[in-house]
Amino acid sequence: MLNLEKVEQELKTARMGFQFYGLEKVDSTNKFALELAKNGAPQGTVVIADYQTKGRGRLSRKWLSLPGEDLLFSIILKPHIKASSGQKMTLAAATIVHQALTEYCSNMKHDEINFDVKWPNDILANGKKICGILAESILRDKYFETLVLGFGINLNMKPENLENTLGGDFSSLSALKSQPIDRTEFLIRFLQLFDREYLQMENNYFRHVVQKWKSVSGQLGRKIIIHDSDGDKSAEFIDVSSQGYLVYQTADGQKSELIAGDIKWQ
Ligand code: BTN
Repeated sequence: MLNLEKVEQELKTARMGFQFYGLEKVDSTNKFALELAKNGAPQGTVVIADYQTKGRGRLSRKWLSLPGEDLLFSIILKPHIKASSGQKMTLAAATIVHQALTEYCSNMKHDEINFDVKWPNDILANGKKICGILAESILRDKYFETLVLGFGINLNMKPENLENTLGGDFSSLSALKSQPIDRTEFLIRFLQLFDREYLQMENNYFRHVVQKWKSVSGQLGRKIIIHDSDGDKSAEFIDVSSQGYLVYQTADGQKSELIAGDIKWQ
């Protein structure tokens, strides 16, 4: 199990980690966090588990993990923004994970890793998925009453488990660095970074989020296949809109926006 005592002692944050729930096993930390929020848990509450029996992924997928290997946690947020701006929150979260991974690795030996963000909020390491983020919310009118951001960060999944459990499109930091990663240390650093960035986001209403996402993403200009409710279509990824939507152009020159969905490389 993670050393939550150490996290609570060493964490220097204004809000994140206000309360911790450390669970050995849970169905889903997002589900648990949403229940807590309904019962009045405050912003900054963190739910973390060693193992999830029904980890949730985006687009109704499953998120698979094995006991004790990775970081599986959810943060309860209460952003004073319209739900229509929610996409920007998840883009911001992805850039924060990107930054945390980059900073964590900067002093480590072994080959350099190329981290990237894939729209909307996957984090890739050398082209393979290393982190997924799931946003789930409770709305009041058009605003967030609660936004739960759930992070699955593959820190220590073993190469054989990556292949057998996840099917080859995923990676983990320990597999790439050939050494175990200290989950407790990584969590402390991530929450401190998230705390700082979240404060800024609240103050300037996300003005820089899309710009920052684009500056760390190596995706603009790539040929993609868009998978949405109409099926698959080929396009070029040309921009991210101020709302955080993917702007693409099809072969007939028509530009459109994708609000939610999934993309693949051609
Ligand atoms: C994705 O499909 O990429 C999003 C995956 C999000 C997984 C995390 S693990 C912790 C939190 N609890 C969940 O049930 N899901 C998120």
